[in-house]
This record gives sequence, structure tokens and C-alpha cells, in this order.
Amino acid sequence: MTSGAAALCLGPGGSGGFTVRQFTRRRPAADELEVAVTAASVNPIDVRRSEGYGRRLLSLLGAGRFPLILGNDLAGIVTAVGSRVSTFKTGDRVYGVKPASAEGAHASHVLVKAVHMLAAPGDWDLHALAAIPYSFTTMWLAVRGAGLSRENAVGKNVLVHGAAGALGTLATQMLSSWGARVTAIARKSNSKVCLEVGAAEVVERTDDLFVSLSRSFDATLNFATWEDDLALIGCLRDGALGHATTVHPMLGNFDRLGWLRGMLRTLSQKKDHRRALPKGASNYAWVLFKPDKAALDDLRQFVEHNQVSLPIGLCKPLAAAGLAFDHVRKRQPGRVLLLP
Ligand SMILES: NC(=O)c1ccc[n+]([C@@H]2O[C@H](COP(=O)([O-])OP(=O)(O)OC[C@H]3O[C@@H](n4cnc5c(N)ncnc54)[C@H](OP(=O)(O)O)[C@@H]3O)[C@@H](O)[C@H]2O)c1
Repeated sequence: MTSGAAALCLGPGGSGGFTVRQFTRRRPAADELEVAVTAASVNPIDVRRSEGYGRRLLSLLGAGRFPLILGNDLAGIVTAVGSRVSTFKTGDRVYGVKPASAEGAHASHVLVKAVHMLAAPGDWDLHALAAIPYSFTTMWLAVRGAGLSRENAVGKNVLVHGAAGALGTLATQMLSSWGARVTAIARKSNSKVCLEVGAAEVVERTDDLFVSLSRSFDATLNFATWEDDLALIGCLRDGALGHATTVHPMLGNFDRLGWLRGMLRTLSQKKDHRRALPKGASNYAWVLFKPDKAALDDLRQFVEHNQVSLPIGLCKPLAAAGLAFDHVRKRQPGRVLLLP
């Protein structure tokens, strides 16, 4: 096997943040593929992990120590196939997710589980596909965590906070196509894009935003800020399905407080918020990304029907990973891709 190259994140103490390092490529294990990466996303979690966030819990996955190769999703071309894989062959175009590890997707070549990859439809650009899988999977887990599904979504009123971001956009696209009525919370300048992707109405994000919202929602989704989590739960009607958040303090608690106090604090915060659910509502979820077969099955269908997409804001080579990360850190518009 020959060599590959990766953007190695040196961590908060590392001068310059990133360096491109050559590595010797390994053969895929029996259930793996090797993929030559055409594009890999830089997601907000990558920026936070580059600053040391989540290191205690992620150490359980061998992903707690720098230097690290970050990145949880990608699109590219299969270059080698494990002995037990019959679903893909060399030369296939694929896209999909990679669980958190020390060997993420920000590299020229990655080893991935075949079950975490999907075949890229011929009419889709691999750059456009690389931006979607991690955000879609996390969004999908939140939607399910709040008690919503394709089967029960029709006619449900769903409030989405952070609606103009990646998870919010994908949730709006998916839920509106399932027949739910999405109310998007976004800043005024993003109203138009929220409506374009399927929101029924947009509520402008202001300081007294939650005063004007009634307790009428069947489900609430928090993709914006933990500070607003209780206020969002307060928008659920009696008998609602529930609430899910992707912005919660679990990883930060373990980082700051250690294993035992971190666990106790997490359990007590979660219990307090669950207790705020209205009568008859039973679902309350703190979402942590992990690959999920049912989510990938839905992603395949949404991609095949051209029902999901995210705008790309910046593409950079591995050698300019720092600039790509800065774009995400400054919350500049569009998804960011590394092109090895
Ligand atoms: N738990 C997990 O496993 C997991 C996985 C994926 C993502 N996440 C988290 O989920 C969140 C959403 O992800 P994303 O990729 O959709 O991020 P994104 O594209 O940056 O979108 C975040 C959205 O939330 C809004 N927002 C951010 N901070 C806010 C605040 N303090 N008050 C009100 N609105 C705020 C942003 O508004 P502006 O456009 O006005 O900035 C933006 O619309 C991120 O925090 C991400 O780290 C967690």
C-alpha cells in the first residue's frame, strides 16, 4: 500500500493548529472500505474538538488525545474493499459517516465501515453529498428523539430553533416533506431561506422571542443554544410528542467536572428539563451523533428524490484546514469542505 495525507489537528496547545502529515495506508478490515476522499465536511463539532471540547468522553473512542484527524463525514471513490463486503466495489462513488475516532475524514484516504456508506447517485456532485451525512444523521436522531417519525408527522406543529443552520435546514426539508408544519426560529435575514426550504412560518429571533410563542407545539427541536432549552419545552402543548436537543452540556460537564461529578451533573440537568415537559408528553432526548442504519436509509431516499441539500460556503485543500475551521468558528454562511 502507498501513502496518504491527512490534516492533523494539533490541538489548542499546537502552534498553527494543523499540519498535513503523510501516513502509510492500511488494507481495509473484512467489513471496511478504503475511500479516496473527494470532499469531507468541517462541522461545528470539529471546531470545538480542535479546541479540546469533549476530550474526556471521546477518550473512550480513542479520540481524546491530540494530534487527531477530525471529520465525521465524506464523499469519495472506493479504492479497496474488505473481504466480507459485497455491497461496493473499487471505483464506486460513495458518501457517508465515520464515527468519532483519532482517524477522521479529513484525509486523502479513509477506512470506513461499508454499512456506514451509501452509493452516490450519478446525478449528484460528491461535494454536495459530503456536506450532508453527519448533519442529517444527527438531525434525524433528534427528530426521532422528540417522538416524530415519517408515520406520525403529518399535520404536526414542530418548532425548530436554529432553523437556518445545517440541522435546522435538513429538519425543515425532511419534516415538511413528511407533512409536518414547521415553525422556524431564525434571524430576520434568514427568514427567506427558511421559507424556501419548507418552513410554514418564521419567527424572528429576538430577546423576547419566547414571550410571543404559544404552548401549541407537538414537538420542539433545539439546534441553537442550551440557554433556550427550557423555554422551548415551554412551547409544547399538553399531550405533545416531546423535545430533543443537540446542544446540551453533557460533553462539557465531563470535561469540566470529571467522570463522577460530570455524570451526576448531567443526570440532574437532564432530569430537571425532563420534569418541565407538559402533561402527557413523554419524549425528551439529548442527542449524540452516532451512525444509524435507519437514518442512513432515510438519507438515501431523500438524496435520491433530491429533497435535501445544504449550501456550500467554502472549499479548501487540507493544507488550508485552519482557514476552513476559521470559517466555521466565525459562523460564516454555508457548509465548509476540505478537498484532499
Ligand atoms: N450532539 C451532537 O452529537 C451534535 C451533532 C451535530 C451538531 N451538534 C450541534 O448542534 C448545533 C447545530 O448544528 P449545525 O451544524 O446546524 O450548526 P450551524 O449550521 O452553525 O447552525 C446553528 C444555528 O443555530 C443558531 N444559533 C447558534 N447559537 C445561537 C444562540 N446562542 N442563540 C440563538 N441561535 C443560535 C445559528 O444562528 P446564526 O445563523 O444566526 O448564527 C444557526 O442558525 C451546533 O451547536 C452543533 O455543535 C451537536
